Amino acid sequence: MEGFRVLGGEKIEGEVCLQGAKNAVLPILAAALLPEGGCAIRSCPDIRDVRAMAQILDTLGCRCRMENGEMQIDNSGLCRWEMPEGLSKQIRSSVFLLGPILAKMRRATVPYPGGCEIGLRPIDLHLKGLRALGVRIEEGGGVLECDGQGMHAGDVYFDYPSVGATENVMMAAALLPGVTCVHNAAREPEIEDLQGFLNALGGRVSGAGTALIRIEGVKTLRGAAYTPIPDRIAGGTYLCAGAAAGGKVTLLNARPRDLIPVTEKLREMGCRIHTGESTVSLEAPERLRAFSRLRTAPHPGFPTDMQAQMLSAACCAEGTSVIVENVFENRLAHVADLQRMGADIRVSGRTAVVQGVRELHGARVTARDLRGGAALVIAGLAARGETLVENAGIIDRGYARMEDTLRRLGARIDRVREA
Ligand code: UD1
Repeated sequence: MEGFRVLGGEKIEGEVCLQGAKNAVLPILAAALLPEGGCAIRSCPDIRDVRAMAQILDTLGCRCRMENGEMQIDNSGLCRWEMPEGLSKQIRSSVFLLGPILAKMRRATVPYPGGCEIGLRPIDLHLKGLRALGVRIEEGGGVLECDGQGMHAGDVYFDYPSVGATENVMMAAALLPGVTCVHNAAREPEIEDLQGFLNALGGRVSGAGTALIRIEGVKTLRGAAYTPIPDRIAGGTYLCAGAAAGGKVTLLNARPRDLIPVTEKLREMGCRIHTGESTVSLEAPERLRAFSRLRTAPHPGFPTDMQAQMLSAACCAEGTSVIVENVFENRLAHVADLQRMGADIRVSGRTAVVQGVRELHGARVTARDLRGGAALVIAGLAARGETLVENAGIIDRGYARMEDTLRRLGARIDRVREA
């Protein structure tokens, strides 16, 4: 196993150019099963989850090739409807292959998905959505058998705006005759991007970004080249690193409006933020100030995927910060490791109360989930001495060689083989 060794206490400074968003690219790769003809996804991040998704598409009969930052998908050989168990368990996003496989093959066999250990992560809403489109689903033995012979357009109501379930239904419905409406749809920017991709293929989808999405089925879709939106979570992570380590970080190829929940909190902490059309710059103060309360919520609320990184930044801020994780029930696993680094954090249920300390110190810690792992690297940058973040592989799921990006900002970080 590999780890990151971080020598903290140095300010960082420089620019980070954002690539396509992991959470936009994964559903887009799934949707690349739908058209007649190949697709090219530009600015595709070379991260583990993307590689795993490409491998799954390959086992279904497609041919995926990554070249010069562009993922090319040739789906002409698509011939299987059974998702491979090992790979599907590696990434939870494999669940939204259900929609496109059903749309193309009218049947699908899918093992229960895997992914980060951040809670129960049920898939009842995905199944509810597909059942509303006439899919018959049998569950048993850790496998879902889906029969889509009777699929039809329809109305789907979600009692919670699940990102993945919304995407699944959009893809399942894109080729069904008639109009499908998703009510109480998730409104994340990545949903708008999936709409953008489906429409680039010749689809008729509207309303993404609002709670009501309308999908008018078309007979066929055609291949297309597409550039996904930049990664707001990777961007937010590097801004947090700049805030916690002290220094100046500028994001290039960013969409400032997608980062507003994060930049507003960082402002509250005393950071100076400047935005241009596609840039966001952060200048950290001498010492960060605590923020009053941060509650994660579906978009446009504060993104749960930035909670851990903000918690790290709060560890050395002056005053008391309160964080409430409302989206996932088990997403504070990084707290125990931060405490080993000298952080003063009390957890009660889904709430963490962070009393800022003057300084963190290096320690041996373990990345337990993707964003929690990134948070430990951030804490390592801010801490005095050496931090070893074990299990770097889990961070590679969502960040393309994070150590290289941080080194370009002047951080002292190496990838090491763990003893
Ligand atoms: C997506 C993101 C993930 C992010 C999350 C919330 C991708 C690849 N992943 O995950 O990074 O943290 O959105 O912004 O885009 N739920 C159910 N039943 C379901 C589905 C979800 O109860 O069928 C619950 C989940 O357990 C969780 C909440 O709904 O508590 C949010 O999940 P959801 O919006 O579906 O997130 P994902 O699509 O899994």
